[in-house]
Amino acid sequence: MIQQPEPIGEAPIGRVVATELKPATPHQFHFWTATETSIGIGAIVRVEEGGGGKGEGGRVVYGVVTDGFAYSDLATPLHDVIGAEGDPARAAAAPTVRQEIRLWTAAVLRQIPEEPLQPVPLGRVHMASDADVAQALRMDAYLHRAKPTAIPVGLYTSGGLESPVYLDADFLVGPEAAHLNISGVSGLATKTSAVEFLLGSIFQHFPAHRGNVAAVCFNVKGPDLLFLDQAGQLEDEDRRRYARLGVEPGPFAQVHYYAPFKADGVNLNTLRTHADLVHAVEPLVWGLTEVLDYAEVLLNRDDIDAKADAFIDFLSDRVVRRDFDDGFGGQHRVETFADLERLFRGIFDGLEMASRGDIWRTHHIATIRKVRNRLGNVSTRCKGLVTDDGPASDLPWGKFADRTVYVIDVANVDPLGQDLVFARVVSKLREHLERRDLGVDAVVVFVDELNKYAPADGPETYVKKMLLDISERGRYLGLVLFGAEQFRSQVHRRVVGNAGTQVFGRMDSDELATPGYQVLSPATKIKLATLPIGELMVRHPHFTQPIFVRFPRPPVLRGRDGVERFPPAADLPFEDAVVRQLLRVAPSIRPNQIKDLIAGREEHDVRRAIGAVRRERPEDVLALFRRRLGGRVAPEAARERTAVPPLNPIAEEPY
Ligand SMILES: Nc1ncnc2c1ncn2[C@@H]1O[C@H](COP(=O)(O)OP(=O)(O)OP(=O)(O)O)[C@@H](O)[C@H]1O
Ligand SMILES: [Mg+2]
Repeated sequence: MIQQPEPIGEAPIGRVVATELKPATPHQFHFWTATETSIGIGAIVRVEEGGGGKGEGGRVVYGVVTDGFAYSDLATPLHDVIGAEGDPARAAAAPTVRQEIRLWTAAVLRQIPEEPLQPVPLGRVHMASDADVAQALRMDAYLHRAKPTAIPVGLYTSGGLESPVYLDADFLVGPEAAHLNISGVSGLATKTSAVEFLLGSIFQHFPAHRGNVAAVCFNVKGPDLLFLDQAGQLEDEDRRRYARLGVEPGPFAQVHYYAPFKADGVNLNTLRTHADLVHAVEPLVWGLTEVLDYAEVLLNRDDIDAKADAFIDFLSDRVVRRDFDDGFGGQHRVETFADLERLFRGIFDGLEMASRGDIWRTHHIATIRKVRNRLGNVSTRCKGLVTDDGPASDLPWGKFADRTVYVIDVANVDPLGQDLVFARVVSKLREHLERRDLGVDAVVVFVDELNKYAPADGPETYVKKMLLDISERGRYLGLVLFGAEQFRSQVHRRVVGNAGTQVFGRMDSDELATPGYQVLSPATKIKLATLPIGELMVRHPHFTQPIFVRFPRPPVLRGRDGVERFPPAADLPFEDAVVRQLLRVAPSIRPNQIKDLIAGREEHDVRRAIGAVRRERPEDVLALFRRRLGGRVAPEAARERTAVPPLNPIAEEPY
C-alpha cells in the first residue's frame, strides 16, 4: 500500500542550518535530520520559513537532496583510535555512544514566492507530498490547467512515498521544446524499455486539443521492437505503478511493421516471420524514383561532388518519368533502374559510335560513369530494399493514423541501406508535416543506437545532417526525435543538446567523468553509476534539477522473448514465398493456381508481377497477376530479352 502524504503541518524531519563556511544561498542549502531518516539522495523536501506553516505568508522552498554527510564531535580520527586504545572491539563496547549527525545538501527546485530571489531561510524541513512534488517541479502549470498537457513518465519514490511525475507535452512533443534523449549502459539502463513505456504513455495522455500523434520507430537491433503489439509479462508491482501513473498497461493497439525483402526479393528480411505474426509486416521496396532524390546519401560518403550532383539533378528534373531523347536517336522513358541502365548504355554507345568525345549534354562521361556506379551500388547492396525494376511498396504517406506505431525493421540491412531508409523516411515525414498532409499533426521518430547515426565525430553524412536538422527545427513541424545511446558523449553535441528532455539510466563511470556531467554532484553521479534497473534520472525544462523516477516494465513483449514465443519461420522456397505474398492480398486464391502460373518463369518477371498486384490491389488479383507475367516465352528468348547487363558497381573502366 502506498503511504499517502501526511497532511500539511506534519512533523518536520529536519532543519536548515547555515554557517559561515556552509551558508544557505538562493540555489543551495544544508539541513540536518535525525540519524534514522528516510531521506536519501534524490529526495524532494519542502522548507518552511519561521514558525508559520505553509501558506501563512512565510517563504516556502522546495529542494532536492544532492549530497549527504555524517560526522560526530571528534576533531580527528586520532581521538577515536586513542579512546579505544587502538582496538576496534573495544570501540564498539564503549559505554557512551558518540553523538553523530546527518547533514544533507539540497539544490533548490523552486521558491515561493519566486521574487525577490533570496537565500533559503533557516526553516523546518518536511518530506514532500504529492502536491509538493507537483509544486516543486512546476508541474502544477500543466497538470491542473483547464486543458492539461501532462504525460506521466514515472514515479518519484522516496521514504515509502510515491508521486507521479509528469512531463509537459508542449515541451516533449512541441512546440515549446521537443525531443528526448536517453542514455546509459547496455542492458541495465532500460533505454529501449523506457521509450516503449513513454510512447504508450504519450499515446494515452497526449491531449486531444494538441491533435493527433503517431510514432515511427526504426528497429536497428535484432528483434527489439518487433512485438510492440504483443502483451509482455508484468508483475503486480508493475501493475500498481501503472495504476498510480494513470496509464493502462496494454500493448500498442495499432502497429504496422515494414521490412525490406531479402536478396531473393520474396522473403521478408525481418525476425517477425512467424506464421501468426507475419501478416502485419508490409514489404518495404523502393525503385528508382523513390531513391533518386536521396542519391546524396551515397555521394556524401566519400566526397561531395558538385558535378555528380548536377548530373543527378539533371536526371531527376529532365529525364525520369518523362519521354526523353538521348540525342543519338534513342527514345527513353525512365521509371526503373533497368530503364536508366538502358539510357546509360545508349549514351555510352552513342558517344563511342559518333566519336563525339567525352561530353554528353555538358556532363563529362566520367561523371556519368560515376553516377551510374553509385546508383548501381544501391540496387546491388540494398537488394531486397531497392529493386531494379519492381514498383514500390512504401509507408502510407498522407494516411498516417492517430496513435499508431510504424516500425521499420532495418536491423539486417546493410549500413548504406539503413542510411537510405533513414534519409528517405525522415525527409518524407518532414515534407508531409510541412504541408500538413501526413495524416497526423505530430510524429515521434525513435532512433535507437543514435551514436551510429549521429556520431560526435566522423564525417558529416547526410543522415547526420538530417538528424541535426530535426533536432534544431523539427519542433516547429511536429517532428520529434527520441534518441537512445549508450554513451551520450559519443553523439553529436547539437543532437543531444537540443533534446528538451534528457533521461539517464545506469551510467558508466568513465562516461560520468567526461565534461558533460560536471554539473552533477559527486553523490548524484554515484547514484547514477549504481542506479537499479527501472530507475531513471530525468531532466525536463520545467524541472530546475534532475529528478529520479521509477517506471514500470513496458507493457509489450520483449524482443528476445518474442523470438522465443514466435520463432522466425525458415525462408520459404521462391514459389511458396510468392504464394504467400499473393495470399496476403487475396486470401481466396488457391496456391496451386499461382504455382502453375509461375512455373518456369523468370524470377524477376514474377517479382515485377507481384509488385504490380501489391501496388494496384485489383479486384481480380489472379487476372492482373497473369496479365503482368506476360506471355510465356522460350528460355532462349527470355535470356535475350533480359540481356540488359545487370547494374554493376564496378565499372569496366576504373574511375
Ligand atoms: N521498469 C523496469 N523494471 C524492471 N526491469 C526492467 C524495466 N524495464 C526494463 N527492464 C528489463 O531490463 C532489461 C534491459 O532493458 P532494455 O533492453 O530496455 O535495455 P537497453 O538499455 O535498451 O539495453 P541495450 O543498450 O542493450 O539496448 C530488460 O531485460 C527488461 O526486461
Ligand atoms: Mg536497447
